[in-house]
Amino acid sequence: MPALRRSVAIGVISAAAVAAAPLASAIAASPATAATAKTSSASANAPKYPKDSLRELGQKVGLRIGAALNPDLLGTDAAYTKIAKQQFSTVTPENVMKWEVVEPAKGTYDWSGGDKLVDFAHANHQRVRGHNLVWHSQLPKWLTPDGFTTTYSSAQLKAILKKHVQDEARHFKGKIWQWDVVNEAFNDDGTPREDIWYKAYGNLDYIADAFTWAHQADPKALLFYNDYNIEFTGPKSNAVYSLVKKLKARGVPIQGVGFQTHLDTQYPYPDLRANLTRFAALGVYVAETEVDVRTFTKPDAMNTPVDGVHESAQVAYWSRTIQDCLSVKACISYTPWGFGDAYSWVPGVFAGEGAALLYDEQLQPKQAYTVIQQDLELADGATHRSHSQD
Ligand code: XIL
Repeated sequence: MPALRRSVAIGVISAAAVAAAPLASAIAASPATAATAKTSSASANAPKYPKDSLRELGQKVGLRIGAALNPDLLGTDAAYTKIAKQQFSTVTPENVMKWEVVEPAKGTYDWSGGDKLVDFAHANHQRVRGHNLVWHSQLPKWLTPDGFTTTYSSAQLKAILKKHVQDEARHFKGKIWQWDVVNEAFNDDGTPREDIWYKAYGNLDYIADAFTWAHQADPKALLFYNDYNIEFTGPKSNAVYSLVKKLKARGVPIQGVGFQTHLDTQYPYPDLRANLTRFAALGVYVAETEVDVRTFTKPDAMNTPVDGVHESAQVAYWSRTIQDCLSVKACISYTPWGFGDAYSWVPGVFAGEGAALLYDEQLQPKQAYTVIQQDLELADGATHRSHSQD
């Protein structure tokens, strides 16, 4: 991995300050756009993406803009597929690379969803964030029937974990840009989550093992630790910070930290920029990996915010998440957790909340989408970040 430069603030101008400027003409007037359009095409036959798409605007500053995708909708839902192709330069499987999907019965693998996603990404010049190798949730029933306990011994669990990490990383070898190797290992109070992996080891050493095994299986993938609520400075973010620092000091192959960034307008906006900055200073890449901004919605309309105040708070939060990433040079990708409100995980998990994504239920772009476009456009000319494969 190349040495990382320390974070550089690039002074992104507030979108609000220029909200009246028509974006299309701002883009047309930008001298950088024509040159970028030429250099962004690998060949004359390379597909052309709209100049004002998130992927093209992000490319000008070297920031990949992503989305979590459901491969079942690719090719079957035309509007969904078109947006997935045109807007994003990196994609994440929302569910299909999780353990319960890839190994539903012990020793029986189903890579079909993951393979479909990887093929789609390849065809559309997108990189893939693999998600995920080690987690407490969405584990197969044969491993833990109730999601908390298992009948396997500690020694058996270690062997099972090693086999899983290596089999999956090997299957997708060379096709994954960033792997979320370990997901959500801590509680909000900073204590380790006592899942089956922690209990098998009696400590957090499964994390170092998982990174080492993943690196052996796919040496070129950038290996990430990924978690939520580390956007806020506090016990959890501090615990992850100490873990990453220790792993780096021990020479464990970890190259990145993913900030899930599942935000909610009922809570204050987090000091995300400060956290991205301090983690980057440990010598890792950072990324916003699962961005969504939920809010309370009308009882009879799952994805209609209760009022205009909450709706504009959402727009403001979205703008800040991208500006925070843009302001930290080590922040190499920005990925919302899906793009259409009709497909978001939020209403099913957070009662009474929704409207959390950039497109509405009919896949029409919302105001938050336009603000993200503007923030990217206004970042043009900022220091170009490196997102090379090595
Ligand atoms: C969620 C998916 O969006 C849902 O479809 C699924 O039912 C549960 O998992 N943190 C993560 C993601 O790392 O994998 C989760 O995805 C959302 C929270």
